[in-house]
Amino acid sequence: MSVTVRVPAKVNVQLAVGAARPDGFHDLANVFLAVGLYDEVTVAPAEELRITCEGPDAARVPLDRTNLAARAAERLARRYGRTPDVHIRIAKDIPVAGGMAGGSADAAGALVACDALWGTGASREELLEICAELGSDVPFSLVGGAALGTGRGERLRPLEVGGTFHWVFAVADGGLSTPAVYGEFDRLTRGVEVPEPAASRELLDALAAGDAQALAAAVANDLQPAALTLFPSLADTLAAGREAGALAALVSGSGPTTAYLADGPGSAARIAEALTASGTCRTARVAAGPVPGATLL
Ligand code: C5P
Repeated sequence: MSVTVRVPAKVNVQLAVGAARPDGFHDLANVFLAVGLYDEVTVAPAEELRITCEGPDAARVPLDRTNLAARAAERLARRYGRTPDVHIRIAKDIPVAGGMAGGSADAAGALVACDALWGTGASREELLEICAELGSDVPFSLVGGAALGTGRGERLRPLEVGGTFHWVFAVADGGLSTPAVYGEFDRLTRGVEVPEPAASRELLDALAAGDAQALAAAVANDLQPAALTLFPSLADTLAAGREAGALAALVSGSGPTTAYLADGPGSAARIAEALTASGTCRTARVAAGPVPGATLL
């Protein structure tokens, strides 16, 4: 017997970052949009907890207990007084260390899958609480759709979205560590008054209206300067996407994946082709959002 859960990637259409808190985290106004690039997480009973990963980037996924999916299984098991004796199989399609919450998706997927396999009967609130313990982006991977994340990003308010947005994602050669990007943000803002992070009214209105032009004018990522300092060639990728007709081009989360808003599926396909041909990224993918969060298959 096995259980499979499909979990989407995310893009941050707004990532407003405040000053570092005493605990080292940053308060955020983080507008998440779940997009149709997916990992699938399958769990089945096993002698002991083990984790395997398939997909072109599988070699870059840690297969020990530092993997967030393994930690999700362990936490749920501990809470329900059982052993996490499962084989977790990840079919990976979300870019690894790319700023698209691939690791968080696997954690949310493993949690929902183990919960179903073990029949724990955990409430949605309990699952969201475990997600928040695992990482700032994990609760959003569970709920999907679109949401405003505050606190360190884990406190979610669902957002209305009035249409489908078409995106292209340029996958960079290599990854960026999220703590390193936040550390660079701290360095770049040293001695500068960092305002309280707040969601943009224009951006929330654009989402609600399903208006891609208005969304393009409002997208913003406060981590982008830090990601560009650590990965300067991303500037060439962003320029290539803009030249190819993207309505907006930005770094996705902490990067190095970059995101391009298109005015429809046709132009998304053309932008993806141009980005691939530009030689400024490893590959380009199209995906639309919002899509639902972690879903049992
Ligand atoms: O919560 P998560 O484990 O995903 O965070 C990874 C790292 O990103 C943290 O250790 C921290 O360095 C940084 N971070 C932050 N502020 C946030 C979220 C993440 O500084 N709100």
